[in-house]
Amino acid sequence: MDIICPKCKFKRSIDDSKIPNKRAIVHCKACDHRFPLQRARSIGVMISKGGVGKTTTAVNLAHGLALRDYKVLLVDTDTQGQAAYLLGVKPRYGLTDYARGDIEARDAIFKAREGLWLLAGGKSLAELKRLIDRKDFGGESTLNELLTPLEIHYDFVIVDSAPGWDPLTVNVLFYVKELLVPVALEVMSVQGLSEFLKSFSSIRKYNKEVNLKYILPTLLNRSNKNSEEILEGFEKLYGKYLCTPIRYSARLAEAPGYGMTIYEYAGGDKVVSDFRDLVEDVIKGDDF
Ligand SMILES: Nc1ncnc2c1ncn2[C@@H]1O[C@H](COP(=O)(O)OP(=O)(O)OP(=O)(O)O)[C@@H](O)[C@H]1O
Ligand SMILES: [Mg+2]
Repeated sequence: MDIICPKCKFKRSIDDSKIPNKRAIVHCKACDHRFPLQRARSIGVMISKGGVGKTTTAVNLAHGLALRDYKVLLVDTDTQGQAAYLLGVKPRYGLTDYARGDIEARDAIFKAREGLWLLAGGKSLAELKRLIDRKDFGGESTLNELLTPLEIHYDFVIVDSAPGWDPLTVNVLFYVKELLVPVALEVMSVQGLSEFLKSFSSIRKYNKEVNLKYILPTLLNRSNKNSEEILEGFEKLYGKYLCTPIRYSARLAEAPGYGMTIYEYAGGDKVVSDFRDLVEDVIKGDDF
């Protein structure tokens, strides 16, 4: 990869395999300046409850960031493998092939859009779960070991996760630094959120590097009194983390059928402005 010194703009190429996994300081040979090597921000889209908009959020957030000229890697850690479906692509390889060591990361990663790359999930992830289970120790860091070396190529790594709680979900929490939790505005989801936050705080005892950053209300229906009341409750409880809700939109539910993101399928729909707010929150999120 090419590294450009922020002070004198001197460019030099470094062999990817020589770049350490952890934070690295680069020494510019031209002007003697030392600077940290930029790495992607890693964001996990997670909650145990199913069907609340995790994949919809991960895909449309990832594409929204790519449309803002960021380089984004979307990683699908769900055996349902729906991220590829939502993007209308059929990658030949994915995360399991890369984890197995059969192919290089660059061959497993599929360019889905300008600025947006996908490391696909799907049924084969069952094998990755077995691989994690078989490890005597350190199984929870498997994803971390696989994805950290890729971070130098991207601005964001967005991880879509499966519903439920299993070794792969735990792995996501041992990899990402930031957590985005989508929660549908309905009573059952509120209970699901508090359960998930309890599990999250037990993981945080072992991994202090992961932080809850965003709680994203989804499926907002302003004409539903219950939905409004739940949102008010969230504002009191989670004000600091709360993002602009994503409203219910029939267009958003239709778009996957055409393999399009919401920007491509219905750029004029009101829900697009909710996603734009989310993209802004995430870009600004670097500051707090
Ligand atoms: N804001 C929205 N308006 C209308 N439909 C939506 C909205 N968000 C998501 N959906 C629809 O709800 C369904 C579930 O969404 P999605 O697959 O993103 O949830 P999920 O949390 O990833 O589910 P799973 O837990 O199974 O992975 C999909 O049919 C999706 O199109
Ligand atoms: Mg999903």
